[in-house]
Amino acid sequence: MGSILIKTEIPGPKSREIAEKRYRYVASTMDSLAPFYIAKGHGAVVEDVDGNRFLDFTGGWGCLVVGHTPERVVNAIKDQTEKFIHTDFTAVPYEPFAELAKMIAERAPGDYEKQVAFFNSGAEAVENAVKIAKGVTRRKAIVVFEYAFHGRTLLTMTMTHRPMPYKYIYGPFASEVYRLPFPNPHVNKMKIGDFERVLKDNVYPEDVAAVVIEPIQGEGGFNVPPEGFLEEIREVTKKYGILFVADEVQSGYGRTGKLFAIQNWNVTPDLISLGKSIAAGLPLSAVVGKKEYFDALPGSSIGSTFGGNPVACRAGIEVLKIIEEENLLDRAVKYGEIIDNKFKEMQEKYPVIGERRGIGAMRAIEFVKDRETWEPDAETTGKVIQIALKKGLILAGAGLHKNVIRFLIPLVMSEDELREGLEVLDESVKEAIS
Ligand SMILES: Cc1ncc(COP(=O)(O)O)c(C=O)c1O
Repeated sequence: MGSILIKTEIPGPKSREIAEKRYRYVASTMDSLAPFYIAKGHGAVVEDVDGNRFLDFTGGWGCLVVGHTPERVVNAIKDQTEKFIHTDFTAVPYEPFAELAKMIAERAPGDYEKQVAFFNSGAEAVENAVKIAKGVTRRKAIVVFEYAFHGRTLLTMTMTHRPMPYKYIYGPFASEVYRLPFPNPHVNKMKIGDFERVLKDNVYPEDVAAVVIEPIQGEGGFNVPPEGFLEEIREVTKKYGILFVADEVQSGYGRTGKLFAIQNWNVTPDLISLGKSIAAGLPLSAVVGKKEYFDALPGSSIGSTFGGNPVACRAGIEVLKIIEEENLLDRAVKYGEIIDNKFKEMQEKYPVIGERRGIGAMRAIEFVKDRETWEPDAETTGKVIQIALKKGLILAGAGLHKNVIRFLIPLVMSEDELREGLEVLDESVKEAIS
């Protein structure tokens, strides 16, 4: 028997009842992928208020590398909430903040002394990484890439590529953000060896504080940079005194088979932004980077009231222990192979799947109308996601043209659950194109 159990129509009666309140009072801009309401979740399984059970391959948009409600995280949270919930570290400090900073700094790449600052959301981490880079270099400009997603605050929305819905008409946008092509043979001519020229064609390099890049693009469609691209950026940024910021909010924390996604390449960034999975679903984000950068900036110029709150830090400590003690990095590699084998089989059966890509368990398939013209097929992608939902599998879409399905699976799921989900995906594609 599998983990999925569908016993009512979706959404069921209790979900429909909650929906009435939701559609009356919740801001309509806050839409949801699933039409049902969760009652509880554990590991990779979510049970809704009508007793239906789903496999969650979105993991709260990539926040649940260690799955829903891992026991040791829950216990740490309970223990912490009974002691104290908030002080603001800048008012009354506490050890979990220092302990988690130590754990992250010791594990981050780079053969130099590192320090960590904590925030609440991924956007805040990215925004602060940029702020640190500007403060350290005393330069104004930043460079980002096509397909990038860095958040929805003014600066990070500007850094994000996709106009609809993320940028819409919410300008004027932040200034001095330069977007360069991300190499993709299907849509542009950017090649290895082009970066320095393209950079200089767009901005005076000595005016650039940071190049911000997702080692594997998340929201943009799990685009993996071609061999040599990140190395080239590292070389050019060093040459011009530009900081290399790896935005690992989505790709970090084990999903790729390495704790930090950038460790899949022989590249050491200057700053890394982290978020999503680092506290098992509690709001926590971080910037880790060279100690000398933080030392060069005025105290209190970087921070936030709730950033690194004790409950989230306690959860964060347990997350790292789970990843290491349960060998989740090896699991990501193994699951990545299982996923890729299935994707390959599906790609051979279904011409609508133009490409499969990814590293470790961070895998995606791209839907196209025609493999020659590479016309995106958002319609089929949307259909597959909806069909899968009704069959008990929650899938995340992605891509500038909404034509990608990405796996953000909890790495704690069993192999049987992974295979069950893959079968549902296969059936859903078959149904969508028939
Ligand atoms: C790479 C990357 N950076 C930043 C963000 C923004 O994170 P948040 O939504 O927590 O602000 C995201 C969110 O998807 C992301 O994937």
